Amino acid sequence: MRKLKLGVLGSGRGSNFVALAAAVAEGKVAAEFVVVGSDQAEAKILEEAKQRGIPTVVCPKGKYRTKLEEEIEVGLAEQLVKAGVELLILAGYMRVVKEPLLKRFEGRMINLHPSLLPAFPGLRAWEQALDAGVQETGCTVHWVNEVVDGGSVIRQMRVPVQKGDTAELLHARIQESEHRILSEVVRDLAEGKVSWPKDPRR
Ligand code: GAR
Repeated sequence: MRKLKLGVLGSGRGSNFVALAAAVAEGKVAAEFVVVGSDQAEAKILEEAKQRGIPTVVCPKGKYRTKLEEEIEVGLAEQLVKAGVELLILAGYMRVVKEPLLKRFEGRMINLHPSLLPAFPGLRAWEQALDAGVQETGCTVHWVNEVVDGGSVIRQMRVPVQKGDTAELLHARIQESEHRILSEVVRDLAEGKVSWPKDPRR
């Protein structure tokens, strides 16, 4: 089967990228990584990519915390296009995506979020769930559009909140599910079992 060309953006540890890379290496997902990018030069996800021989790109942080300046995002988007990315995966990428990425990757960019959207969009969703006192939270993979954490849902997985949970314990439990759901969705997209708003291969 032809391999789907993946690009991943992350700002941190990259445990979801690592889980996906393992599924790809085991032949469970018909895909290959063409680039891993970050807005944080010191992010562990970049080290993980380099160890696997995957090209990396880093963009400047710029002057805002929550978004990239337009010229910076244009530069990042162009590098991803040049690398040949067909599916762009946001896996712990902590910037709000704006027009430069939205335009170039419309209908072919997915995000992983640590809650059952539409509940708890935004930052530290597991803490929001604890504060709200819900008994169940989870994780979501969704298509990315201009509404933060608002694009259409592809798949969700439920995760129980347990008595005595701390933010760290709950996030760790959510991440176990994230590691599974992301690989499953990418596998199904590669195999055409999930329909794409804009399939780059057609
Ligand atoms: C994940 O839990 C992901 O859902 C979350 O950041 C973590 C990254 O972990 N993303 C968001 O909160 C986006 N709003 P990782 O770097 O170990 O994959």
